[in-house]
Amino acid sequence: MFIQGFVGSWFDHPFWRKKFLLIEDADVLKIRESKVSAVIIDVERGAVPAEPAPVMPQLPPAAVLPPRHAPATGRYTPPSLAPRKTSFRQESKRAAKIVEKSRKKVGAMFESARLGQAVKLPEVLPLIDEIRDSVERNNKALTSLVRLKNKDEYTYMHSVAVCTLMINFACKLDLDDDTIRSMGVAGLLHDLGKMAVPQMILDKVDRLTDEEMVTIRSHPVRGHALIGENPDIPDIARDVCLHHHEKIDGSGYPFGLQGNEISLAARMGAICDVYDAVTSNRPYKDPWTPCVALGRMSQWQGHFDERLMQVFINSMGLYPAGGLVRLNDHRLALVVDNCREDPSGVRVLPFYCTSRLQELAPAEITITPDRGVQILGTERPEFWHFEDWAAMRQGVLAKAAPYSAAA
Ligand SMILES: [Fe+2]
Ligand SMILES: [Fe+2]
Repeated sequence: MFIQGFVGSWFDHPFWRKKFLLIEDADVLKIRESKVSAVIIDVERGAVPAEPAPVMPQLPPAAVLPPRHAPATGRYTPPSLAPRKTSFRQESKRAAKIVEKSRKKVGAMFESARLGQAVKLPEVLPLIDEIRDSVERNNKALTSLVRLKNKDEYTYMHSVAVCTLMINFACKLDLDDDTIRSMGVAGLLHDLGKMAVPQMILDKVDRLTDEEMVTIRSHPVRGHALIGENPDIPDIARDVCLHHHEKIDGSGYPFGLQGNEISLAARMGAICDVYDAVTSNRPYKDPWTPCVALGRMSQWQGHFDERLMQVFINSMGLYPAGGLVRLNDHRLALVVDNCREDPSGVRVLPFYCTSRLQELAPAEITITPDRGVQILGTERPEFWHFEDWAAMRQGVLAKAAPYSAAA
C-alpha cells in the first residue's frame, strides 16, 4: 500500500521518508513495532488492506429444494449462468413486473394459509428464482421498489420485501445456491403466523392493549405451527419463522434467546424484517429513508448482530446517516441522508481534508452515482482519532453551511 503519512510524532516513526510505497514485510513489522498509532494510505497509489471476513455462526442443516431454475414439477433443467448486470433504470421495469406477479401469487398463498390450507411452496419457487435473478442483475431496483406498499397488502408485500432483502444479503455473504434460495423462502414465510392473527389487530392504528400485544407476539409460534411438517419447506425457513423477533441481548421473543443461540439465518431475518418495517409506509408513521434507517439501526445496542449489520449495510450499497465516508477527492464527510429527489443520491457534509490533515468548513453536497465526486467507502472514526464521534458529528452539523446545490 502507499503510505501517505503517519499518525503521531515524527520522532516515533521508523523511516526517514514520510510518503512511500510499502512493499517489504520487514517494513510492515517496523511500523507495527513503532509508537505510530496509525498510518494514512493513498488508495489511488496503492492497494487497500483487506478487511478480515466476519466469522459466521453455523447454518441450520441444508435445505432440500429442487435446483434453481428447475420447473415446479417435471424434469430438471440445468441451472442457467448468472444473469448479466443491468442498469437501475432497465431493471426497474422488470422489477415492477415481478412485484405485480408477487402481489397475485404471494397474496393467494397467504389467503389460503388464512383458510388453514398448507403452503404450496413449489408454486412460488419460480418467483423466488426471478427475485434472485433481478437482485443479481441490479440489486437496487427491486429492493427500492418493494418498499412501496398499500395498506391492504402490507403483510404479504412485506414478506416479498423481506424475501428480496434476504436473497440480496445471502448473495453478499457468498452462501451457496441452495442456501440463498432457502433464505428467500424464509423471508417469504417469516410472518406466515400473522395469518392466524385477526386482521383488525394487524390493522390497528391506536396503541395495542396488553392482550392484543400477546396475540401479535404469538405470530412466530403460530407461523411455525402452520408450516408444521410440510416437507417442501426448508428448515432455514422454519428457524427464521420462529426466531426472527429474537434479539442478540436476549430481550426478544418468543424465547429470549441470546447471542450464538440465535442462528445466522434468524439474525439475518431480524435485520431484513426491521429494515423493511421502518422504511415502509404505515398508517401510523412516516417511513424512514434507507439512509436514516441504517444509521439508526446500527446504533441500537443489543438488538442486531453488529458484524452482520455492517454486511447488510454493504449489501444495500447505501451509506447510513451519521456515518463517516471518504470521498475520492481526499475529503472525509459526514452522511446526512438520502437525496429527496433521487433515492440513489446521498447528501454529505465534507469536513476534513486527508491530504492536508486539515479541517474544512462543512458545506453540504449531493453525491449521485456516475457523476462528479464519488464516495470511496465508509471509514471508522477511531482510525482518524475522532474519539467522540457522536459529539464531533454534532459539531460538524452545527458548523455546516445551509444546503445549496449539488456539487
Ligand atoms: Fe414478525
Ligand atoms: Fe415481519
